[in-house]
Amino acid sequence: MIYRNADIENYPFPFPRDQYRYSTNLEPTGRRNASAAGGWGDRRVDIDRRYRSELDERARILAADPSRSQCLPHMVPACWDAMLTLMRELAADYPATMRLDRISPDDNTFRWRNDLLGIDDTFTFGDPATLPTAPLDYICGQIQEDVVLLDQRAGQLWGDAGVVTFAANWSFGFDIGMSFLQIHGPVPRVHSEKVITRAHEFLMRLEPGQSFRRTNWSLTVDGKLDTATETYREWGRDRRTLAEGPLDEVGDRLFLRTEVQHLIRLPHSGAVMFLIRTYLLPFAAIATVDAWADRLYRVLEDLPHDMTEYKGLERTRGPALRWLATFGGVTP
Ligand code: HEM
Repeated sequence: MIYRNADIENYPFPFPRDQYRYSTNLEPTGRRNASAAGGWGDRRVDIDRRYRSELDERARILAADPSRSQCLPHMVPACWDAMLTLMRELAADYPATMRLDRISPDDNTFRWRNDLLGIDDTFTFGDPATLPTAPLDYICGQIQEDVVLLDQRAGQLWGDAGVVTFAANWSFGFDIGMSFLQIHGPVPRVHSEKVITRAHEFLMRLEPGQSFRRTNWSLTVDGKLDTATETYREWGRDRRTLAEGPLDEVGDRLFLRTEVQHLIRLPHSGAVMFLIRTYLLPFAAIATVDAWADRLYRVLEDLPHDMTEYKGLERTRGPALRWLATFGGVTP
């Protein structure tokens, strides 16, 4: 994976402070967040130079494991709603390459063009026979974000549909159909500190058209996007080989993984659309920004044991700290 300046300039560095703790860290969307290297957050759906390679990777994962895409029967209208909302978003943000035209208002027929992928399709909203695949699969083949759709009923949110190919150490296939509170069951601390119940209340009050975002982060070895529970056997051992390998390899092998997560209330179905976009940057690139290297060091050094364990950083945290101190110019 080769990194360029643009990857660093636009990287959503996730730490506002030297100490990281879980919080209901939501902020309104649409504002650019400045960072020490540039900034991020202009758009809710972000197309970058990895567009094709990440879409190819998604297609490969879906072909190998269809459980990464699921839609419970009552969520079919929400999947159409999500597709059209994302098309409108793309057309508004990328007018040079994306275009949505309503051909016939009477029967809800649209023409969708995505010049980046050479797509020019006409479909009737709600009629699956007019699309080559199910609506959520169709649009997720054209965005780099993972998507979960949450149904709101009986005073709770339920993760009842989605296409998730780049999960950070969790399983969409396991979580499908679970409530928001059940999904967050394994996360330490958040229950006693009411982070999740507060987020849940907040999300249930989200109005159509409103959207918020937050970040989450982890460390990943060798730039792998797919670190789902299902493929643990393919990526789990990387942590050990990194820890047992030479220290000078850590800069290229260990990546800070930031997820930019958007929460958008869909206009017709009332479902909440959860977009998860994963950005990876190797430590060697992080270390080109002094303030980032220093902050990452402080955060990792301070991270409590239960959070380190839950995030799966027990093996990688030590090498990360040693590399930052040796090659990243950080003074412990
Ligand atoms: C994990 C908070 C929204 C699905 C987590 C973690 C936190 C968190 C703190 C632990 C992450 C880590 O240590 O790496 C929140 C907050 C939210 C939110 C504050 C909203 C304001 C959502 C939504 C979904 C979701 C809408 C949709 C299904 C997950 C999953 C995990 C997770 C699947 C991993 C759980 C596991 O280990 O199995 N979340 N989250 N989150 N979150 Fe959320």
